[in-house]
Amino acid sequence: MTERLALFGGPAVRSRPWPAWPEFGDAERAALERVLVSHNWGGFPSPNTEARAFAGRFARSIETRHAVPCANGTVAIGLALQAARVEPGAEVVTTAYTFVGTATGILQAGALPVFADVLPDSYCIDPDQVEAAVTPRTQAVVAVHLACSMADMDRLRELCDRRRLLLVEDCAHAHGARWRGRPAGSIGHLGTFSMQSSKLLTAGEGGAITTDDDAFAARAASLVNCGRKEAGADAFPERVLGTNARMTEWQAALLHEQLVRLPAQNEHRAVRAAEFERAIAALPGLRTLPCDERVTQRTLYQFIVRYDPGAWEGVSRDVVLRALQAEGVPAAGRFYVPLPDDPLFPLDAHTNPLARAGGAMRREFPVASRAAYEEAIWLPHWLFLGGADDIGDLVAAFAKVHAQAKQLAARAGELA
Ligand SMILES: Cc1ncc(COP(=O)(O)O)c(C=O)c1O
Repeated sequence: MTERLALFGGPAVRSRPWPAWPEFGDAERAALERVLVSHNWGGFPSPNTEARAFAGRFARSIETRHAVPCANGTVAIGLALQAARVEPGAEVVTTAYTFVGTATGILQAGALPVFADVLPDSYCIDPDQVEAAVTPRTQAVVAVHLACSMADMDRLRELCDRRRLLLVEDCAHAHGARWRGRPAGSIGHLGTFSMQSSKLLTAGEGGAITTDDDAFAARAASLVNCGRKEAGADAFPERVLGTNARMTEWQAALLHEQLVRLPAQNEHRAVRAAEFERAIAALPGLRTLPCDERVTQRTLYQFIVRYDPGAWEGVSRDVVLRALQAEGVPAAGRFYVPLPDDPLFPLDAHTNPLARAGGAMRREFPVASRAAYEEAIWLPHWLFLGGADDIGDLVAAFAKVHAQAKQLAARAGELA
């Protein structure tokens, strides 16, 4: 393979579009039409039909007693913590390697995120670091099931039970994942989901809180709906300061249909990802994240490949990414950076209560930093929703860039 890299004017491996996301069909059209003619477009919980039906179906899929639909995954985290009575000013240990919404959700509950580093083989929160971060002020742990991995729920559950901490699973990346047969979102005390556009289950925007705890669920439903009581929860005795984080009937109707599609989509992606994994095993310097055997159903919000420049003439990950992108592969490197480095997470005392809180915030996260700046190549899930030819193009792009690594190394200086 001696073809010139697209980065230097050669033809790109892939110029036609990748599989379109989200997928939809007649079922989604009919669902939207149903809402349109119902004259009932408003938000969960009242008045509604679609949101209640979706909540029931989603709870069944997660195998929890309750699912409370809400506006998005960020408010889901904040409201889950509030529903479980995490107090303002309490510390909540979470991963440094996640989307900013995990931390802003914690802050919106009035709590303070305390960041921990991740494990090198899953990029999910390191339970030893959680243990080390717990103080008398800690009330909860928010674990994120990241990209294609799950956090170690055995250790986190044991730790949280022993230290009497609340455990919340941020499942924004893990719709349909299972740990020892149990769905993500059913293992901690609460689970939170995002249904934003890029997610495995989407209505453009949306979220949900899952739990087996009746009181948490009633409180979450009230918090979502301006602090109102709602039918079925009238015995709920207290007044809460809620917000409007209701899910509309449009979202719920779409999500209901998308949820029907999800298992087959997850299965399809797993098959294509396995093809990809087998093919790139032949290329040196690329390792996928190992799948923990306790993950009995892996989901692929993003497929992560770990890159080792040693086998690519020392070319940095970011330069390889530019070459891959020029070949038509929408790969990303700094998908997330450790949150204290993230421009979306300003650390001035004016905007961020964490900066105002005074305590020394940890800023060194060697494993997350290596992933973010040197090692991780993130591939979006919809690349794996098409045919074997799509995987062929993906592999061909990696192989072409690898074959031209010498050229890339020699000319990397030209790429300002
Ligand atoms: C890990 C994680 N947590 C939370 C969120 C927040 O979800 P939303 O964008 O729906 O507010 C996201 C969304 O990207 C996410 O990836």
